[in-house]
Amino acid sequence: MCSLVQKYNVPGPRYTSYPTVPFWDINTFSGKKWEASVKKSFHASNSVSGISLYIHLPFCENMCTFCGCHKRITKRHDLEMPYIKAVLKEWRLYRELFDEKPIIKELHLGGGTPTFFTPENLKYLIDGILRISDRSNDAEFSFEGHPNNTTKEHLQALYNVGFRRVSYGVQDYNETVQKAINRIQPFENVKNVTEWAREIGYTSVSHDIIFGLPHQKLEHVINTIEKTKELKPDRIAFYSYAHVPWLAGNGQRGYNDADLPAGDEKRTQYEVGKELLLEYGYHEIGMDHFALESDGLFQAMENGKLHRNFMGYTSSNTNLMIGLGASSISDSWYGFAQNVKNVEEYQSLVENDIIPLYRGHILTEEDQIIRRHILNLMCQFKTTWSEFKLHLPQIESILNRLKEMEEDGLVTIAEGSLQITERGRPYVRNVCMAFDLPLQQKSPDTKIFSMTV
Ligand SMILES: C[S@@+](CC[C@H](N)C(=O)[O-])C[C@H]1O[C@@H](n2cnc3c(N)ncnc32)[C@H](O)[C@@H]1O
Ligand code: SF4
Repeated sequence: MCSLVQKYNVPGPRYTSYPTVPFWDINTFSGKKWEASVKKSFHASNSVSGISLYIHLPFCENMCTFCGCHKRITKRHDLEMPYIKAVLKEWRLYRELFDEKPIIKELHLGGGTPTFFTPENLKYLIDGILRISDRSNDAEFSFEGHPNNTTKEHLQALYNVGFRRVSYGVQDYNETVQKAINRIQPFENVKNVTEWAREIGYTSVSHDIIFGLPHQKLEHVINTIEKTKELKPDRIAFYSYAHVPWLAGNGQRGYNDADLPAGDEKRTQYEVGKELLLEYGYHEIGMDHFALESDGLFQAMENGKLHRNFMGYTSSNTNLMIGLGASSISDSWYGFAQNVKNVEEYQSLVENDIIPLYRGHILTEEDQIIRRHILNLMCQFKTTWSEFKLHLPQIESILNRLKEMEEDGLVTIAEGSLQITERGRPYVRNVCMAFDLPLQQKSPDTKIFSMTV
C-alpha cells in the first residue's frame, strides 16, 4: 500500500464538477447561454424531480487557518440583512426565468457559517425563498452548523421551516491540532449541538472530520473517531485535508509544510480511520463519506440513486441546482456558472437586476458523456460504455492510461466496463483523471488542485 501512495499521490480534482473549474471555457460562455440552459433544464425537470437550491452564507467570526472555503471574516452582524435581501432578490431574478412555480426538492445552507446569522434572519431568508416557490413533499433541507455558535434557537427556527438535516464541523478534538488550525472547540460543544438537534427532531446529524491536519498524529485521528462514536452521527464526512495555500483569501498559514503529515503517514490515518468507521457500523459512500444503514445516503447508494454535485454527495437526483449568494456555483446539467465572489459586488449587481455571474461553462456533448462516467465512478465505483450514448472515441487511450492501475489491482477492466476494486477506492480521483481529457491534454498553468491522497 505504501508504494502505491507514493506513486499515485499527485495533484488532482475532487470532481464536484466535470469539467473542473480551471478547464471551463469561459470565453464562449455568456449570461444569455446560461439563462437558456437553466430554462431548458427547469422545463425538463421541475415537475419530474424538482430542483435544488444552494445558498452560500459567507460570514464567519473567526478564521480557522486550515479552511479552504470561500468566507469573509467579520464580527459585523449588521451585514446579515443586506446580504439576505440580495439573496432573495437573486432568487426573484431566477424566478422570472421560469414559466411555473419552482418545486424545491433540496435546499442547503452552506458557508462560511450559516449560524453566524440570527435564527430570525435565517427564518426570514427561508420564508422569502418559499414565498415564490413550493417544497416537494419529500424535500430535504439541510444546513452547516458551527458547533461553537449553533444555538437551540437556530436549530428550532430552522426545524420549524422544514430543516431535518444538519452537519457540524468537528475536524479534530486534539488541542494541539485545534490550536494550529485556530479552532478551539471542546467535545462538550459538539455533544450539546448534536443532542439538541436530536431532541428537536432532526433525522440526520452529520460530523465533518479531517485527517492530514497540521501536527495531527494517528492517535489524534483515532481519538477523534472514538469520541465521534459516542455521539453516533448518522453521517460522517472523513475528509483529506486539502492544502491549497495559494488560493486568494485563504487562511492556510501559521504552519509549515513540515507540520503536515504527508504521504504514507497521511494515508495510514485514512486507512486506520476508515477501518474504525466500518467497525463502528458505518458504510463507505463514494469518496470521503460514511453513513449508518438507517441514513438516506446509504439507501441512495444501495438503490443506485447517489448523486454528486457542488454540495458533495446527495440522495436528491436533481439535474438543476441553482447556487445563490456570493461565489456560489450553479449546475444546470447543460452548464455551470459561478457568481462573483466579492460580497459588495454581488449585492450591487443583484440590486441592479443582474444575475451576478462571474464565469461559467456550457457542456459540449463530449463533456456530458465524460461527466456521466465520472459521476458513475465517484458514486458507484464503476462505469460502463457498452451503451452507444456513453461511448467515447478516446476510450482506448483512456484504458491505456488505466493499465498500470489495473496491474496494481486498483481497477478491473472488462469488455465495455470498468470497476474500481476495494483496494482502488482511495484512488478514485486518480481513476477519474484518466477520463478527464482536458486535464490529460494540458495541465493547468498554476497550482490549483490539492493532492489526491
Ligand atoms: C463551511 S465549513 C462548515 C461550517 C462551519 N463554518 C464550521 O466550520 O463548522 C465546511 C467543511 O469544509 C471542510 N473543509 C474546509 N476546509 C477544508 C480543507 N482545507 N480540507 C478539507 N476539508 C475542509 C471542513 O470539514 C468544514 O467542516
Ligand atoms: S471552517 Fe467554518 S468557521 Fe472556520 S473559517 Fe471555514 S467556514 Fe469559517
